[in-house]
Amino acid sequence: MQSIQANSYPIHFNEKAYEALNIHLKENKYSKIFIIVDSNTNEFCIPKFLPFLETELTIEIIEFDAGEVNKNIETCVQIWNVLTELGADRKSLIINLGGGVVTDLGGFVASTFKRGIDFIHIPTTLLSMVDASVGGKNGVDLGNLKNQIGVINVPKMVLIDTEYLETVPQNEMRSGLAEMLKHGLIYDKDYWEQFLDLKSIDFADFDSLIYRSVEIKNEIVIQDPTEKNIRKSLNFGHTLGHAIESYFLENENKTTLLHGEAIAVGMILESFISLHKKLINKEEFSEIKSGIKSIYNDIIFEEKDIEPILELLIHDKKNEFGNIQFALIDGIGKIKINQSVENELILKAFLDYKS
Ligand SMILES: NC(=O)c1ccc[n+]([C@@H]2O[C@H](COP(=O)([O-])OP(=O)(O)OC[C@H]3O[C@@H](n4cnc5c(N)ncnc54)[C@H](O)[C@@H]3O)[C@@H](O)[C@H]2O)c1
Ligand SMILES: [Zn+2]
Repeated sequence: MQSIQANSYPIHFNEKAYEALNIHLKENKYSKIFIIVDSNTNEFCIPKFLPFLETELTIEIIEFDAGEVNKNIETCVQIWNVLTELGADRKSLIINLGGGVVTDLGGFVASTFKRGIDFIHIPTTLLSMVDASVGGKNGVDLGNLKNQIGVINVPKMVLIDTEYLETVPQNEMRSGLAEMLKHGLIYDKDYWEQFLDLKSIDFADFDSLIYRSVEIKNEIVIQDPTEKNIRKSLNFGHTLGHAIESYFLENENKTTLLHGEAIAVGMILESFISLHKKLINKEEFSEIKSGIKSIYNDIIFEEKDIEPILELLIHDKKNEFGNIQFALIDGIGKIKINQSVENELILKAFLDYKS
């Protein structure tokens, strides 16, 4: 598969990825290599990765416990301390081998250590391949507020090897799929339609679906790296999705939702809003709703859940001047950004979701 050029770094795929990495190591005089992993990628991905690495340099592996709850500044402090103890300097290279938690956190650690050292992302979940590792956003959560602290800074390269997906649990695969569906809905109608009949998808050809998703994300980010306009389209499904995700996370009576599971609900709700703003028609809405519902289990909302979810919306960092701004689809494959939506319509969307 052909490499994709991002703003100022390449994205290499499968066998080409390791070739490119080894050339990069030869061409740059690094002092040491630090590989940041979580407990799962240390177990499942390190054994696959290390044999490809051709280098005489010392390699140190830094592991933290898996899970979004550890994507915080305390974990960063621990890693900055370990880097310091192990003698990391400005010429050290950090390789982030893991899902979005590792790439987000590892990218932030590298971007801030000694005012920034080189880093490379090797995403190992579907979500991190098609979304988190592309676009230069790094950061950590602040309490329940997702990605509240962070920087935009790009890696030297992103290496996507789909073989890592072999050990990714099914529910995590479904979570990543939500971002692929989103890429179709906001940017490429034909791509969206390929997911409508999941049974007919040739999974041997799943690599090309991943490739197209990376291409879409990259094309959007290249046009608007700092999220002034078109990059906001990537927030489709996320305005409500994030609030739902946070609410389920902090509510003891609810099972925690994976990111993509919350986004899937968010995309149905925000499509309903698009319908009511006459941006899509009934047929398009029912195609989206039934398409998404055929992949994800229904999430149960009670009447009393909705008010606190609306309150959480206010904390969404994408709010500007206190207004909640939505990116809504304007016909499948196109998007309209900066749309304000009255609370009443959001409530209607929740009621429709339940029906
Ligand atoms: N920076 C961005 O632009 C951006 C975009 C989207 C999402 N994100 C962030 O990404 C994170 C979610 O990413 P995620 O879904 O990859 O979560 P994750 O990193 O927590 O990975 C999910 C689970 O899979 C495990 N895992 C990872 N690779 C594995 C493998 N190959 N085999 C077996 N298990 C494996 C992990 O240990 C974890 O338990 C969130 O924190 C989100 O905010 C960032
Ligand atoms: Zn997302």
